Amino acid sequence: QGRKLTVTGTIPGGLGDAWEKVKISASYPGEESIYQEALRPQYHFSSRRGWLNDPNGLVWKDGSWHLFYQHNPYNHNWDNMTWGHAVSSDLFHWKEMAPGLQPDAEGYMYSGSAVVAPKGSTGLPVKGDALALIYTANGNHSYEPGRTVVQSVAYSEDNGKTFTKFKGNPVVPHVVAENRDPKVFWHAPSKHWVMPLFYDGSDYGIYTSPDMVKWEKTCDYKIPTDGECPDLYELPVDGDAKNTRWVAWGAQGKYMLGSFDGKVFKAESGPHHHYFGAAYAGQTYGNAPGGRRVHIGWMRDGGAGLQGMPFNLQMSLPMDFTLRRQGDGIRLWAEPVKEAEALRASTKEWKDFTYESGQTDPLADFKGGQFEVEAVMDANTSAAEVGFRIFDDHAAIWKPGDRTFSGAEGQQAPVDGKLKVRIFVDTVTMEAFVNGTYVSKYIRQTPGTKPLRLVANGGAVKFDSLKVHTLKSAWKE
Ligand code: FRU
Repeated sequence: QGRKLTVTGTIPGGLGDAWEKVKISASYPGEESIYQEALRPQYHFSSRRGWLNDPNGLVWKDGSWHLFYQHNPYNHNWDNMTWGHAVSSDLFHWKEMAPGLQPDAEGYMYSGSAVVAPKGSTGLPVKGDALALIYTANGNHSYEPGRTVVQSVAYSEDNGKTFTKFKGNPVVPHVVAENRDPKVFWHAPSKHWVMPLFYDGSDYGIYTSPDMVKWEKTCDYKIPTDGECPDLYELPVDGDAKNTRWVAWGAQGKYMLGSFDGKVFKAESGPHHHYFGAAYAGQTYGNAPGGRRVHIGWMRDGGAGLQGMPFNLQMSLPMDFTLRRQGDGIRLWAEPVKEAEALRASTKEWKDFTYESGQTDPLADFKGGQFEVEAVMDANTSAAEVGFRIFDDHAAIWKPGDRTFSGAEGQQAPVDGKLKVRIFVDTVTMEAFVNGTYVSKYIRQTPGTKPLRLVANGGAVKFDSLKVHTLKSAWKE
């Protein structure tokens, strides 16, 4: 069924003849069956076809969440770096658009960010409000020797349908070998644009600009043991707008907390970590409504099992970040976005019960490939391990002795003696949110295994509540 879709030849709007030197050829299963493949994530974003890496240019405009991403539309592997573009009104149902940026004489289109630039706020040749993409052009891949790695801008005056690269590019010249991943935002008190930029190792710099065209460097900072893909934003502590901290974030999800005066970031604590597993190089929407900090990560490690598919890898579940006072300090707290609740199809619920090893598992009959588990359980338990097993092989397990969940050490300090757990299982992934911590991995739904089992090894655990929701497919329903 379906016809073979073969992509060969030149990239439209690309390098023309230079591309003839590059072999771009890949065949995929029939186009009609796209989104219906056996291993297609059903409610996480994955590209229609080809390779996907970091989310880029997360920006909200006029009711639409835009998701740009590092993309190789032509093949299963990292190459031909293009900015894929998808749009959603609810963060789950995505429509893929024409690519935002394509490689050209500037080189490959590496990671970056997007902003809504109000009329008059930039030196770009636009008439009204614009959607601007600020990206790294990596000339090392342009097939022309002696190129450099620079920061450039493109803009759209039709809500992201088409983009024009700024004639004055680059806006930040080559700095060091690996300067990349600009994450631009408007700093209202200073009335200027701000651009954290990755350099090398764990070094980052901050540039500022009155017009997005002329930039000057105003500070350096570090996120020890992290690197790439900076994010920088201010959040209230426990919702108190008068008590805020700035979060400086790196690709591995490590972050520093500190202050930022519009030019200089001063770290006060960190690096902290609350984000473990497969997800990498995420970023946040800088302008989500209601002051929300919605983050999407790229689920990188462990997707090798997708080799037979016309697409490769997927994004994380969108999550809201807040800052909360916890234990010995202030920490980021991740929760699945509330929009995820609309995915629920059917729910089974158990209340106030104790489960102990050897007892009949209430989940033994559960069937499903896409589901969410919601549990509130006592962190103090006589069992050495409690929690869930997913398709037999994958553990979502709390070990009270070493205070880890799924092997991840974070801030899973019990809150009022409880663990609040949300687990999301999709075709090839599972993600767990536990007391503000996020853990993720790629999984296999091995035939003959049980989708979900309760675990209490060598003791008993008390649940306040346990709910299991089957989830709808964003592509089919
Ligand atoms: C992160 C990253 C970015 C870079 C992009 C290139 O995974 O290495 O630093 O811009 O991927 O695709």
